[in-house]
Amino acid sequence: MNYQTLLTNAVNPPTAAPAGIVLLSSRELEKMRRAGHLAAQLLDHLEPMVQPGVSTQELNDEAAHWTAAHGAISAPLGYAPSGHPPFKGSICTSANEVVCHGIPSPKHILKDGDIINIDVTPILDGYHGDTSRTFLVGNPSPLARKLVEVTHEAMMRGIAEIKPGARVGDIGAAIQEYAEANGFSVVRDMVGHGVGRQFHTEPQIPHYGKRGTGLKLRPGMVFTVEPMLNEGTYKIKVLADRWTVLTKDKKLSAQFEHTVAVTQDGVEILTQL
Ligand code: MF3
Ligand code: CO
Ligand code: CO
Repeated sequence: MNYQTLLTNAVNPPTAAPAGIVLLSSRELEKMRRAGHLAAQLLDHLEPMVQPGVSTQELNDEAAHWTAAHGAISAPLGYAPSGHPPFKGSICTSANEVVCHGIPSPKHILKDGDIINIDVTPILDGYHGDTSRTFLVGNPSPLARKLVEVTHEAMMRGIAEIKPGARVGDIGAAIQEYAEANGFSVVRDMVGHGVGRQFHTEPQIPHYGKRGTGLKLRPGMVFTVEPMLNEGTYKIKVLADRWTVLTKDKKLSAQFEHTVAVTQDGVEILTQL
C-alpha cells in the first residue's frame, strides 16, 4: 500500500540482499507459512458472516476475537504509519467504491448487491500474514461480479510470474495487461510490499508496469501481491479520516491479496490453505 515513508525505515537485512530487502531463512519461512495459513483460515471463518444485514463492526469484532483465540495479534489495530492516525479496526472492510483501508463501523450495514473486501493481518509468533478477498453480498450486478473475478485472476496471473530471476515489473505487467484487456483500470498509488517481522517494508510491488524492468527476484524474498482494480478511473482519493481510500469517480473497486515467497524454482503462496 502507500507506505513510502515507512520504507525508508526498513530494518537491515540479516542476509546479503539489495538494500532494505530481507531474505528469509527456511526457519523464518515456516513461521510466515503459519501466520499466512492463520490469515487464510480467518477469511474462511468470516466468509459465511458476509450477508445482507451484517455490520462491518460485527465482522471486525468476530475477527478480533478469533485472532486472539488463536494466539495471534491483529496488526491493523492501532497501526499508525507516519501521516496516519492509529487505525481503529482489527481488519479493513472496503465496500463498493472503497478501494482499501475501509474502517469497520456499526453504522455500516452490508446490503444485497454490495461487494466487500476484507483484509486481515494476524501476527503469529512475530510474523505477519497479510491477505484479503472481495466477497459478494447477496446478488451483485453482472459487472460487479466480473470485476471481482477479473481482479482475482489478475492477482493469480501476477503471482504466476514470480520465480528467481524474474523482475518486479513482470508481475505488474501481467496484472495490468489482464485488467485492461477486460476493460478495468489498475490503481497506481497503492502497491504490494515486503512483509515479515514488519507489516510494510521494501520492496514495493506495483500492480502495473513493464516486463523486464525493476528489482530482480531472489529466493527468500517475501512480499504481497494485492491488486486493486477499478470499474472506471484508476484515480483515487482519501477521506478526511486519512485512511479510507475511494475511487475518484465513486465507481466500483475490487481487491485480492496474497503473501508470497520466492522459492528456489518459483513461488509459494503463504496465505492459501
Ligand atoms: N492489510 C493492508 C495491506 O494489505 C494494510 C492495512 S493497514 C491498516 O497492506 F492500518 F489499515 F490496517
Ligand atoms: Co492486506
Ligand atoms: Co498488504
